[in-house]
Formats: sequence, C-alpha cells, structure tokens
Amino acid sequence: MTQDISIIRPDLIARIHALCDGEDDSIAIMATVSAELFHAVDGFNWVGFYRVVAPNLLKIGPYQGGHGCVVIPFDRGVCGAAARKGAIQLVDDVDLFEGHIACSSSTKSELVIPFLDQSGQLLGVLDIDSDQPHFFTWQDADQLDQLLRQLFQNTSS
Ligand code: SME
Repeated sequence: MTQDISIIRPDLIARIHALCDGEDDSIAIMATVSAELFHAVDGFNWVGFYRVVAPNLLKIGPYQGGHGCVVIPFDRGVCGAAARKGAIQLVDDVDLFEGHIACSSSTKSELVIPFLDQSGQLLGVLDIDSDQPHFFTWQDADQLDQLLRQLFQNTSS
C-alpha cells in the first residue's frame, strides 16, 4: 500500500465515533478501537494499545491478535521511540528498524501513534502491525492520529 491512499475508510471512522460517542473511559475506548480496526483491515495482524503506567514505562492495554509484549520501556522498540519522541513512527520494514521488538515473527511493517489525554499528558500509543512490508501510508497515520485526538480529548490519565 505505498500509493498515498488510506486504508482507513470514512465509514470505519464514523462507526468508531458512533460506538465511542460520549465515552470518557480510556480503557473502553482502547478496547473498541482495537476491535474495530483489527476486524476492518485484512492486512493488520495485530492492533493494540500500550499505556504509560510509570515514568518512561509502557504496559500493554486492550489489543487484538496474538500475544503482545507486556512491558516496554521508553528506550526500547518502535513503541518506546513513539512515546519517547512524542512522534508517529511509520516503519516500512521492521527488520531495518534498530531495536524493533518482534512480538510476532510474521510482522513486516508497523505504525505507532502516541496520543494525549485532556491535560496534554501522554496517555499511551496505538500500535498496529502488518504482515506485509510497506503497508502503511502517512494518510493512514494522519487519519488515525486525528481519530485518537478526538476520542481521548475528554479522558484523563
Ligand atoms: N513491535 C513493537 C512491540 C509490540 S508488538 O508489536 C505487539 C515494538 O517494537 O515496540
């Protein structure tokens, strides 16, 4: 999926907004987003959240797919890099990402998006894996980034 179109269709975004309408519980939102994204896109082999549970420490939250690493320090992996830098990580080939944590050997590309709560605190990261290389576009990243900003704007850490 290298051409700059998005796999995140408007009807999927609308369905997630409808399911999370008025919800301010971050775990409930994470569970709903994980399920909807995972079941909507064939190329996703893992969709889930890592939450900031202590300074410089992520712990797994709601997810769909095979097992995920339970704890990730900020200085490790793609998730750690996204949290540490506060910046989206779009990885076309995980074998070329230094320090990538392989929870599943079938993962070829990855997208990790940090998100904030209503006070601007880093709440965690959304992590999506694909078993296809070069699966994600920056259009996907922008759409999901906007979705997370809207969904978590009324939540607190
Ligand atoms: N690959 C991630 C770890 C989590 S698994 O993808 C579920 C990373 O490098 O941070």
